[in-house]
Amino acid sequence: MKGLVLSGGKGTRLYPLTYTSAKQLIPVANKPVLFRVIEAIRDAGITDIGIVVGDTAEEIQRAVGRGGRWGVKITYIHQEAPLGLAHAVKISQDFLGDDRFVMFLGDNVIQGGISPLIAQFANSDHNSQIVLTRVDVPEQYGVAELDADGRIVRLIEKPKEPPSDLALVGIYMFDHHIFEAVNSITPSWRGELEITDAIQWLIEHGYFVSPYIHRGWWIDTGRPGDMLEANSLVLEELEPRIEGYVNRDSEVDSRVTIEKGAEIINSVVRGPAIIGEDTRIVNAYVGPFTSIYHHVHIENAEISRSIVLEYSQIRNLDHRIEDSLIGRHVVIHRSPIRPRAYKFTIGDHSHLGLLGNGG
Ligand code: DAU
Repeated sequence: MKGLVLSGGKGTRLYPLTYTSAKQLIPVANKPVLFRVIEAIRDAGITDIGIVVGDTAEEIQRAVGRGGRWGVKITYIHQEAPLGLAHAVKISQDFLGDDRFVMFLGDNVIQGGISPLIAQFANSDHNSQIVLTRVDVPEQYGVAELDADGRIVRLIEKPKEPPSDLALVGIYMFDHHIFEAVNSITPSWRGELEITDAIQWLIEHGYFVSPYIHRGWWIDTGRPGDMLEANSLVLEELEPRIEGYVNRDSEVDSRVTIEKGAEIINSVVRGPAIIGEDTRIVNAYVGPFTSIYHHVHIENAEISRSIVLEYSQIRNLDHRIEDSLIGRHVVIHRSPIRPRAYKFTIGDHSHLGLLGNGG
């Protein structure tokens, strides 16, 4: 069985965070979402993985490389424009050949434990399997309608009047019949070759597509709020470890991971939280559900339920930062006029001089 990961597209909804970076490379709990996807596929016993890339190809290739780090072989497949998930399958035919495969959207984060389901598909007689989950706003997703026996009747992409609350999670399994489907359908109203239409084609042509209802959490990390949510959920599951230095005057609770080379000096860190490699936390408070990536400096400041990316600095603030997503190489420090609240989505290389009480 092979793996296909979709990492094309532009990620405009997370702009400006993805102005210079692929959204699939934004880390949750200090590991890029795309790496988590590769690991889930690898854990299903799959070692041959294709990654569909678009505008951000270079960055993705630089970050992922040839896959040796995970013991897998990565093949890059170039998609000239984001013309739809079914289009991505279509251009991957040479790579996939006649093998059964799992297709995973590179920006989705799913609770651990999905790998055995993928492994089972290798030996099943289903032509396809799709993963569904119940959601509050089905209008934003591909939605499945099942009959009384639990068989799929219909799939619709982002319906105005959803027939159910069962959304398609970004994990699909197929055999080679999917190529007949993607070559038969035509673009949707939004100009994309929709994978939902291709699966609908399989059903209408007598192929067996089985639904699997996932009961754990799942997040499509399309918007900054989703990133923070995914970060919290993954942090809750993380096995804590302390590899960095914590000085005697600091207080670090049991659900905190401190990565290699990190230093916690005269600070309080409450878990679940993670402090990345070579990051320094000095006279500061890092609260629950926070991921601080590598080479960050936080001093005389408080932050909680946030993500801070690499090489950023946060210093001398008199208000706590909360619910924030802070990009790479960002500098935030106090400036003369007082603020009431801080809430940020800050792009890479931003430099903020904040309002404050002198100093
Ligand atoms: O997240 C689940 C949803 O994903 C499903 O419920 C929908 O049925 C499915 O169509 C898809 O909807 P989105 O509108 O959220 O897909 P998005 O355009 O965000 O693309 C998902 C990933 O696939 C993203 O990592 C970019 C990549 N992609 C997307 C397109 C359209 C490609 O690699 N090539 C493409 O042509």
